[in-house]
Amino acid sequence: MSVHKLLLLPGDGIGPEITAEAKKVLAFLNETGAARFETQTGLVGGAAYDVHKQAISEADMELAQAADAVLLAAVGGPKWDGVPYEVRPEAGLLRLRKDLGLFANLRPAICYPALAEASSLKRELVDGLDIMIVRELTGGVYFGEPKEIIDLGNGQKRGVDTQVYETYEIERIGRVAFELARKRGNKVTSSDKANVMKSGLLWREVITALHKREYSDVKLEHMLADALGMQLVRWPKQFDVIVTDNLFGDMLSDEAAMLTGSLGMLPSASLGAPDAQGKRKAMYEPCHGSAPDIAGKGIANPIAMIGSLGMAMRYSFDLPKAADAIDAAISAVLAQGLRTADIKGSAASTVSTSEMGDAIVRELGGILA
Ligand code: IPM
Ligand code: MG
Repeated sequence: MSVHKLLLLPGDGIGPEITAEAKKVLAFLNETGAARFETQTGLVGGAAYDVHKQAISEADMELAQAADAVLLAAVGGPKWDGVPYEVRPEAGLLRLRKDLGLFANLRPAICYPALAEASSLKRELVDGLDIMIVRELTGGVYFGEPKEIIDLGNGQKRGVDTQVYETYEIERIGRVAFELARKRGNKVTSSDKANVMKSGLLWREVITALHKREYSDVKLEHMLADALGMQLVRWPKQFDVIVTDNLFGDMLSDEAAMLTGSLGMLPSASLGAPDAQGKRKAMYEPCHGSAPDIAGKGIANPIAMIGSLGMAMRYSFDLPKAADAIDAAISAVLAQGLRTADIKGSAASTVSTSEMGDAIVRELGGILA
């Protein structure tokens, strides 16, 4: 049986608590003999800064490079507000994305029927929602140079970030979106600000050409990013796959997450290009942050984290049965009415982080038996 090497990076805030629940799922899968997972654990974010004065150490970067996949929980918190910009917690996350070449970020926004009440939109708008946001993750304004604050010497300063995209970057993320659409609703909405940005103009040109050349069987539409933000709350079910740049993808995925009831529900996969053997570097993480306000209380929702592990089964370990089982187990506990505080809605009571994890493992047992 092949052994899957997974690097766990619990990070900060609620990170360690939700990682503990993902570990229960891994332990369960190991026990059933369905697959073998070997884990190592490293430090990232503020947790790494406290020990190494770096947002991630070189040794942990090496572990990440050597692993079949990385499972990262969350980084950041007010404790590290004052640390130098280069070593702030988020720098660890950005370095992992950049150095592992994880250009394709998949953020599925699925609204479980049992949770439609928890959404801020009306039930009929979100019930059964299933959108895949494909966010470009290693380019754009997050990494463009120059990126600086210059002292102009006249009492004024100038802050500069650079939005930059090249043809190959747009093409490879476009390809990921079109390929995914073919296995889903066969529709791609590409989002940019071609009306004000040169990089947006190029984005639209490259996506249009790629579509014409290789994917004309898929329905393609272009939508300006502001309009897409509006359409997401007006009629979200019109979307199937949304492909967009790093910054718009960051904002639109938070917005889409909330449609599903809670940010605590959304998993994500960040993938690199396939190598000669078809293997991709990959990192899996919940879309939510470290939630320092509720850290240590045992009330965080572990579902996005466990769902991220499910995505690892699908996209890194070629274990679609385990992935489906994890999704079904999450769906089942929600249908039974189990709720953590963030998705309480009108429920009479809530369960803790570890009770939610235990319930999902119990369901898995039934599903995989
Ligand atoms: C996300 C987060 C990160 C981002 C932060 C923590 C740097 O918001 O993964 O969406 O902006 O990409
Ligand atoms: Mg974000």
